[in-house]
Amino acid sequence: MANVVVIGSQWGDEGKGKIVDWLSERADVVVRFQGGHNAGHTLVIDGTVYKLSLLPSGIVRGGKLSIIGNGVVVDPWALISEIDRLKEQGVNVSPDNLIIAENCALILPLHGELDGVREDAANVSTKGGPKIGTTRRGIGPAYEDKVARRALRACDLFSDTAIENRVDVLLSHHNPLRRGLGVAEINRDDLIARIKEIAPRITPYVKASWRVLDAAKHDRRRILFEGAQGTMLDVDHGTYPFVTSSNTISSQAAGGSGTGPGNLDYVLGITKAYTTRVGEGPFPTELNDEVGRGLGERGHEFGTVTGRSRRCGWFDAVMVRQATKIGGIDGIALTKLDVLDGMEELKVCIAYELDGERIDYFPASTEAQARVKPVYETLEGWSESTFGARSWKDLPATAIKYIRRIEELIETPVAMLSTSPEREDTILVHDPFED
Ligand code: GDP
Ligand code: IMO
Ligand code: MG
Repeated sequence: MANVVVIGSQWGDEGKGKIVDWLSERADVVVRFQGGHNAGHTLVIDGTVYKLSLLPSGIVRGGKLSIIGNGVVVDPWALISEIDRLKEQGVNVSPDNLIIAENCALILPLHGELDGVREDAANVSTKGGPKIGTTRRGIGPAYEDKVARRALRACDLFSDTAIENRVDVLLSHHNPLRRGLGVAEINRDDLIARIKEIAPRITPYVKASWRVLDAAKHDRRRILFEGAQGTMLDVDHGTYPFVTSSNTISSQAAGGSGTGPGNLDYVLGITKAYTTRVGEGPFPTELNDEVGRGLGERGHEFGTVTGRSRRCGWFDAVMVRQATKIGGIDGIALTKLDVLDGMEELKVCIAYELDGERIDYFPASTEAQARVKPVYETLEGWSESTFGARSWKDLPATAIKYIRRIEELIETPVAMLSTSPEREDTILVHDPFED
C-alpha cells in the first residue's frame, strides 16, 4: 500500500488530470497541494469532457474525498463557478466530498487585476519586469500577499471582523501600489461586501484538512496528491523568472497539504512524449516550423485556461532527467505518444551546448538558459497508429524503442502509458500504489 504524488515533469499540461482521474479509482482521497485556477486539467470519460482548474481531478468519480490543500491559492468566485459547472455536468460536489483547507490563502479580484496590469505594462516596457505570459488569474500577486503575511484566508470567511481587518491590511498595501501604477483604488466597502456575499457559499467546505488527512492515514486509506503546473515552472527549480509562483515539485505535496514527507511513497512524473510550453521563457527544443505546428494540431495544444496556443518541440531528455532528480520521481506516465504517430523521424535532446561546451544539465542562470542549444539524437518514427492502444503488444517495435530510449536517457522507468485523451486508453506497466 502506498500514497502517490503526481507531478508534471515539464512545463505543465502533460496530462496530469487524465492520469489522476485514472489512478483515483484506486485512491480514497485526492488532494491538490499548490497552484490555483491557473491549472487546467482535462478529463475525457466516454466522450464527455470535464475541465477542472481548482477541484482535484478525483471529484469526477463518486465516493472519493477531494481536498484543496493549504498550499493552493483559492479564488472563491472561480471555485463556485467551477462547482456549479460540474454540477450541471452531473458531478456531485458537496461538503461531504470536498474540503477546503482552512489555512488556504484566497485570491481576490484585485489580484487578477494586478496580474493583468503588470502583464500589460510589460508589453510596453521591461521596467517593471519581463512579460511572463501568466494566466492573469492573480496567482503571483496572491502568493506574494500570502508570503508577506497579509492574505485573507479561508478561515477568515467565518468572521465579519476578520474579513474587515484583513481587507484593511491588504488595502494599505494595494491602494498605494495601485496609485503608483495609475490604477483606480479599491473601494473598501465594496470589496468587503463582495467577500461577505460569497463567504457563506465557501464556509461549508472549510475544515482543518490536515486532521482529515491524518485520520485517513490512520485508517490506512490511500491518498493521491495531485500537482499542478510542472517542474520547469517551479519557482525555485524552473526557468526563473518565467515560472509560476509556487513550488510544483513532489516535496510540496507534504507542506501544501499538511502531512509528513514520510507519507509520500511514490512519485509519478507525468511526461509528454514531446514538449510543450505556454507563455514566455526559454524552450531549447522549440520547433518554430511545420513540424512544431503539426505537433500542436495533432496534440490539440491549446491552453484549457486561456485558450492560447502552446509552443511545441522535441522531447528534451536533459530537462526531464533533471526533473526526475529534483522531484524524486520514481516512475513516469508517458502521455500523448499517439501524437507522434506517422512521423518519419523523431529527435530527442540528449545534451546542451553552452558557449561551445557540452553540458548535461539545464543551468540556472536566465541568460544561460536562453543561450543553450540542444544536441539531438535522431530516432526512427513509426507509421502505425498507437491511438487508443490499451496493451503493450499493440505498440509498433519502433515506438517501444523510442520509449526504451527515453527511459534510459532520463534514468527512470515508464510506469504508465497514455495513448488518447480517453480515460481507459491507458496502459499500466507498474502500479504506483503497489510500490
Ligand atoms: P494537465 O494540465 O497536465 O492535466 O494537462 P491538460 O489537460 O492541460 O492537457 C493535456 C491534454 O491532452 C488534454 O486535452 C487531454 O485530454 C489530452 N491527453 C491526455 N493524454 C493524452 C494522450 O495520451 N493522447 C492524446 N492525444 N491526448 C491526451
Ligand atoms: P497545468 O496544471 C501550463 C504558466 C503560464 C505562465 C506561467 C506563470 O494545467 O499544467 P501564472 O498564471 O501561474 O502566474 O503563470 O506559468 N502556467 C501553466 N502552463 N500548464 C499550467 O497548469 C500552467 N499554470 C501556469 O502560462 O507561463
Ligand atoms: Mg493543463
